[in-house]
Amino acid sequence: APSRAPSRRAAYRARLLTFRVDPALDEHAAVYHEDGLLIVGDDGKVVAFGDYASLHVTLDANTPVHAMRDKLITPGFIDTHLHFPQTEMIASPASGLLPWLENWTFPAERTFEDAAHAADVAAFFIDELLACGTTTALVYCSVHRQSAEALFAEAHARDLRMIAGKVLMDRHCPEYLRDTAQSGYDDSRALIERWHGTGRQLYALTPRFAPTSTEAQLEACRTLARAYPDIFIQSHVAENHDEIRWVAELFPERRSYLDVYDHYELLRARAVYGHCIHLDDADRIRMAETQAIAAHCPTSNLFLGSGLFDFDAAARTGMPVTLATDVGGGTSFSMLQTMNEAHKVARMGGHHLSALRMFYLATAGAARALDLDDRIGTLAVGTEADFIVLDPAATPLMARRTARVESLEELLFAFALLGDDRAILATYANGRRVHARGMRQSALAH
Ligand code: GUN
Ligand code: ZN
Repeated sequence: APSRAPSRRAAYRARLLTFRVDPALDEHAAVYHEDGLLIVGDDGKVVAFGDYASLHVTLDANTPVHAMRDKLITPGFIDTHLHFPQTEMIASPASGLLPWLENWTFPAERTFEDAAHAADVAAFFIDELLACGTTTALVYCSVHRQSAEALFAEAHARDLRMIAGKVLMDRHCPEYLRDTAQSGYDDSRALIERWHGTGRQLYALTPRFAPTSTEAQLEACRTLARAYPDIFIQSHVAENHDEIRWVAELFPERRSYLDVYDHYELLRARAVYGHCIHLDDADRIRMAETQAIAAHCPTSNLFLGSGLFDFDAAARTGMPVTLATDVGGGTSFSMLQTMNEAHKVARMGGHHLSALRMFYLATAGAARALDLDDRIGTLAVGTEADFIVLDPAATPLMARRTARVESLEELLFAFALLGDDRAILATYANGRRVHARGMRQSALAH
């Protein structure tokens, strides 16, 4: 069970930033307090968020005030797509997605059959997320049920809001990594019953991608998705041209790659599809209609040479968009580094992706897309106090650059383009400090 500190009641005086709506739609979307106060209650929820001048009078004498006026507090980052069994094979080069899966990914995922290894990597993986300021992530485990058990156990012990699922794949992968339509169904169901809604944990049904599931397995997914309408769903779509050709051969009766998932009723709210690069507008409109969500993974798309996500097409069609690392296809756990690359991908398409919008997409925007904005992503009163403290002087270069900024946009842009885990001074989850820069979780006093 989560360790319980005596009280989480505390106040934090800093620059505060959150978002009401998407900055692409409203120039007053950001809520920013230059001298702000965030008050967290005994239960780890936000009690107040606003100007120091108006809020400090409400504090009682027993509430400690942490003064860090030159720092910036935002909601914790939300990474909507990454793979925990790929942690130790990050930065393994290949000529493209399919050879990368075969030569690096599948052999690495095989080792998660060992529950002790899975537990060891789960602890490291979560340390790494927290060090980068990510407090919620949608996580692919391996095909082994014990890998999901390990990830959930670790996230639960630290009281983090994590979303994860056991990968389903019953064909077109090495024999040693296959489940069956029946065993995949049984294991997913058992994991949903055990973990979905246990503490802060949530379950994501995780068919890896259409090529590695038989029609029987996709039918089993449909059955589970119907039986548990509030679980998440995650998969990959339209990442790579060879992959897309393969899907067209395997499912000749479907209009498009996305249509395979549509056919099995796997497009819906809380369904998150990695990449969404080579879709057409009919697909994007279908995503918008069903409220299925695109997870744009720029470091992965550039690393694997998959292609450039089309921000204009997403905006034109109303397809919900979020940002994600896709570790280990992605090359960084940092959502700041992910923003850096997302900005450049957008730029290559002639689209200006502002820093305000990138911070929105990594926080309130993701929470809204995932239907979790009543709990995380905004620091609104009553929500769970998952937040990060960003240091504008994290490096000598950042100190010089941020000393010269004249607007919030400029400050955030410096964080996005120059920042990484060094910019995260501290990470809080449910009102508790779960990371301090230069220290790992195991070294923190509780
Ligand atoms: N498509 C199917 N599996 C994977 C994976 O592990 N990573 C990426 N980037 N794409 C995939
Ligand atoms: Zn992926």
